[in-house]
Amino acid sequence: MHTHVRDFRSVAVLGLGLMGRGIAQVITQAGIPVVVLETGEHRLAAGVEAIAAFLAEGVRRGKVTPEQREATLGRFTGTTDVADLATADLVIEAVVERAEVKRELLAAVGGVVAADAVVATNTSALSVTDLAAAVPSPQRVAGLHFFNPAPLMPVVEVVAALQTDPAVTAALTAFVERIGKVAVPVRDRPGFLVNKLLMPYLNDVVDELDAGLASAEDIDIALRLGLGYRMGPLELLDLIGLDTHHHATTSAYRATLDPQFAPPPLLGQMVAAGYLGRKSGRGFRVGCPAADTEEVAAP
Ligand SMILES: NC(=O)c1ccc[n+]([C@@H]2O[C@H](COP(=O)([O-])OP(=O)(O)OC[C@H]3O[C@@H](n4cnc5c(N)ncnc54)[C@H](O)[C@@H]3O)[C@@H](O)[C@H]2O)c1
Repeated sequence: MHTHVRDFRSVAVLGLGLMGRGIAQVITQAGIPVVVLETGEHRLAAGVEAIAAFLAEGVRRGKVTPEQREATLGRFTGTTDVADLATADLVIEAVVERAEVKRELLAAVGGVVAADAVVATNTSALSVTDLAAAVPSPQRVAGLHFFNPAPLMPVVEVVAALQTDPAVTAALTAFVERIGKVAVPVRDRPGFLVNKLLMPYLNDVVDELDAGLASAEDIDIALRLGLGYRMGPLELLDLIGLDTHHHATTSAYRATLDPQFAPPPLLGQMVAAGYLGRKSGRGFRVGCPAADTEEVAAP
C-alpha cells in the first residue's frame, strides 16, 4: 500500500521569470539547493535580484531573518547550459507558455538528467500529457502547477498525465508538503482543477453583466459578501488581465468544444478595445468611464 517516496536533494528550475523565481525561492527557503536555467546572464541576474528584493522586504516586515535571507540566496546556482542540470533529481519547468519551446527544452533536459529523475511542468493551459510525450521515459513527467505569487499562494496542483507513474505523483505530493505548501492531486484536463472551475464562472459573470443583470460593482459586492470570496469576479478579472483570461478560456474551448469555456462576446470586445484590466488602467472595475468623467470634472 505504502508507496516509496523519494527525497529530492537537488532541484533544477527552468526559467527565472515571474513564476520560476517564485518557485525557486520557495524551494531554496525550504533548504533545498536549486540550479536555475535561463536563456542569458542578464535574465539570471534580473531573477536573482527580484528574489533578493522579495526577501529584503520579508526582512523589513520581520518575516525573514537576515541570516535566512543570506542562506536562501546562497542555495542558488544559475546557468545557461542544460548540461549543468545533470545532477538534478527533480526538474521544474517554468519557461514561456509555448508548447514548442517547452517540448524542445523538456526533451533536452530529460536526456541530460538521470533516467529516473522526475520532470515536472508548471504549465497553466498546455496538456501535460502532450508535453510528457516529448520526454524520454514519460512516466516520470507530471504537472506541478503553482499559483502566482508562488511564495505566498499556499496550494499547488499535482497533475497526473496519462503516462504518469503514481509513484511520481506521490513523490511530488510529499515534495510540495516539504516546501510548506498544500498539494491537491488532479487529472490532466484543460484548467486542471482551480482554473477549470474558475473559467466558466468568470464567463457567466461577464455574460450576465452584458445582459444587464446588475452593475459591475453590484455583481462584485453581491458575490464577495454572499459567498465570502475575498474578491468579486470582475475585480478578479481586472487583476488577472482580460487578455490572459480570454486566451486561457479560448484555448480550453478549442481543446474541449465545451460551451462553458466559450469566450463571452463582451470579453472579446474589451480585449479588442485594449481594456485589459489593471495592466492597461481600464477594465470592468478600474478606470470605468463614469469614474474618468468625475476625475476630469473635478476642479
Ligand atoms: N503568470 C502566472 O500567473 C502563472 C501562474 C501559473 C503558471 N504559469 C505558467 O508558468 C510558466 C511561466 O510563466 P511566467 O509568467 O513565469 O512567464 P515569464 O515570461 O515571466 O517567464 C518565462 C521565463 O522563461 C525564460 N525562458 C524562455 N525560454 C527558455 C529556455 N529555453 N530556457 C530557459 N529559460 C527560458 C524566459 O527568459 C523568461 O524569463 C508558463 O508555463 C505559465 O503558463 C503562470
